[in-house]
Amino acid sequence: MKKSEAKSKKRSMLVILVLLFVSPFAALAMEKDKGSILSYIPAMINPGGDPPGIGSPPPGNGKYVLFAWNDLGMHCMDPSYEDFAVLPPYNTLWAQLIRRDGEPDIITKGVSVSYRVLGNTRSDNKTNFWQYAQQLFGLNAPLPLNVGLKGFGLQGAMSPKEDHFVAEGIPLTEYLDRNIHRSYPYQIAELVARDSSGQILASTQTVLPVSTEMNCQYCHQDNGSANRSIATGVVKRNILTLHDQKNATTLMSQRPVLCAGCHASNALGTSGKVGIPNLSLAMHKRHAPLDDGTMEGTCYSCHPGPQTKCLRGTMFQKGMRCQDCHGSMNDVANVNRSPWIDEPRCGSCHGKNYAENSGKLYRFSTGHEGVYCQACHGSQHAIGPSTEQNDNIQAILVQGGPGTIKTCTVCHTSIPDRSEGPHRDDDGDSE
Ligand code: HEC
Ligand code: HEC
Ligand code: HEC
Ligand code: HEC
Ligand code: HEC
Ligand code: HEC
Ligand code: HEC
Repeated sequence: MKKSEAKSKKRSMLVILVLLFVSPFAALAMEKDKGSILSYIPAMINPGGDPPGIGSPPPGNGKYVLFAWNDLGMHCMDPSYEDFAVLPPYNTLWAQLIRRDGEPDIITKGVSVSYRVLGNTRSDNKTNFWQYAQQLFGLNAPLPLNVGLKGFGLQGAMSPKEDHFVAEGIPLTEYLDRNIHRSYPYQIAELVARDSSGQILASTQTVLPVSTEMNCQYCHQDNGSANRSIATGVVKRNILTLHDQKNATTLMSQRPVLCAGCHASNALGTSGKVGIPNLSLAMHKRHAPLDDGTMEGTCYSCHPGPQTKCLRGTMFQKGMRCQDCHGSMNDVANVNRSPWIDEPRCGSCHGKNYAENSGKLYRFSTGHEGVYCQACHGSQHAIGPSTEQNDNIQAILVQGGPGTIKTCTVCHTSIPDRSEGPHRDDDGDSE
């Protein structure tokens, strides 16, 4: 490891340590998952390192600043794949490198960005995904171990695009190498930008969130409330048996099945079969009678969940719940929606000064001179500051505190005109 890389790593690790002791959420976090957080720290700190990095300039040589984020606020995957698959392991990391030598400049040429996940180097011993991937996803050849559906692994080089870098479909699980049985859903990716001679320009850390917490067992366990006379001994087989009974399908004898093989899904790009409702519609409509109007009692039955608490951003802390943005089960099951595409829009509540680019999702939108919304605000469901301390690391590294990137000099070397800048342009749009 290069010296400056080691230095910045030490610094950020100490930040985590410090946060554990100063943060109001620390006690909560430890109680929630004592073992994993405590056992994680010793692997990460390097005794005798630099003082904590709070308030210090961005890691690297200061002429560059690197931002990274996961495209979704949470990636959900199946706990195992021998019976059926809703979603594969598939985290997607984005990054933007900004040269802050003079006017800030977003660059992708003549530089490279690599990533790795701290304390997590392999997934093949943590999920049986690779045993079934070829069959489930109709691949021509078996998928090599620890390689995701788009060819990216748990570490490697990101692909440069026009204005950002991306690593799509990282096959991450929620288990660290040191304890493959304990869930750790908010894993930390470390990214390093280098010039063509390999010199480190900047580095950062961001969360790669992943969870298997789909709580189908609440109702679909043996002889459960949803399948009173079905008891195969395996929750997923109870579900397949029920599906076969209700719809005259033969899923039990076709295992493993991909739900999206028949029910179209924009998440996986499958078009499904004619006459069969898309997966989101089928699931939300069929389960709509269970809607009790609360997030905990409804959405967290399948979305992660009471343990993972995937909704954790500033708006959650101000009292907002899934339904405030997405509506009820029946609203999600509206036949006129395109799942994964027709999603809530920041602009519909915050006004056009704070809106996404027209026709684009939040995660594909840029504001302020080509900087992605997520670079300054974080991922949906984790809009900074977050209750999950790992989400706040990047903002703390670059500007000394969590929340929106609002310190102009994180990117500008001289203090710009404050009457302009993010959300302050005359033409009224958010660029
Ligand atoms: C809060 C309870 C609850 C949870 C949690 C739940 N279900 Fe259900 N599910 C039901 C009920 C009730 C039915 C309807 C049973 C019936 O009609 O006999 C059902 C039916 C189904 C059906 C059959 C649909 C049909 O009619 O063809 C499938 C498939 C299904 N659930 C899948 C799932 C999956 C996958 C999960 C987890 C992601 C899940 N369910 C979580 C309660 C639940
Ligand atoms: C072989 C094709 C096929 C596969 C694979 C499949 N389904 Fe279905 N599913 C159907 C058909 C056909 C129906 C009935 C559709 C209808 O009546 O409109 C159905 C109905 C449903 C319904 C009830 C929809 C409603 O509105 O009542 C749910 C929920 C559902 N499927 C969930 C799933 C889940 C979860 C999986 C994966 C475990 C899955 N399906 C896999 C073919 C399939
Ligand atoms: C019974 C299980 C279940 C419950 C309860 C549930 N969901 Fe889902 N949800 C799913 C599944 C499965 C998918 C993945 C569908 C796919 O892959 O296309 C999904 C996907 C979604 C999506 C993305 C796809 C889309 O339609 O845009 C949204 C948004 C969503 N759910 C919102 C909610 C909200 C809000 C609630 C609570 C009001 C909720 N869900 C409750 C099972 C559930
Ligand atoms: C403050 C508003 C807000 C709240 C609260 C909220 N969401 Fe979302 N959600 C969004 C936005 C915005 C998107 C689309 C972002 C994008 O893809 O660019 C989204 C997208 C999604 C998706 C699609 C995948 C993704 O991340 O794009 C799912 C699934 C989802 N939400 C589920 C939920 C669930 C479950 C809850 C509660 C636990 C919830 N949401 C709470 C605003 C919200
Ligand atoms: C359904 C309406 C709704 C949607 C959609 C929504 N917000 Fe909000 N947002 C609110 C409300 C309400 C508050 C809390 C205002 C308060 O109590 O100060 C808030 C607060 C915020 C804050 C904190 C502002 C402050 O004063 O600290 C930020 C940042 C924010 N939202 C960003 C976003 C982003 C980014 C999106 C899109 C991904 C979004 N919001 C989507 C309603 C919404
Ligand atoms: C360069 C950083 C930066 C980028 C990029 C950025 N924002 Fe912001 N955003 C801010 C700052 C700083 C604030 C708080 C100051 C303010 O309200 O103007 C803010 C505030 C917000 C708020 C809260 C407004 C309120 O009512 O308090 C929303 C919503 C928002 N931004 C949405 C977006 C969206 C959508 C995008 C992408 C199209 C985006 N932002 C891009 C820096 C940024
Ligand atoms: C995440 C990085 C980032 C942050 C934070 C940021 N900017 Fe910028 N800003 C840029 C980029 C990139 C440009 C484009 C520079 C160019 O191409 O000339 C820019 C350009 C500008 C410009 C246009 C004038 C010029 O220099 O070209 C103004 C004015 C500006 N920013 C003001 C602000 C203000 C005020 C803040 C703090 C509230 C701020 N910026 C925070 C990245 C950032």
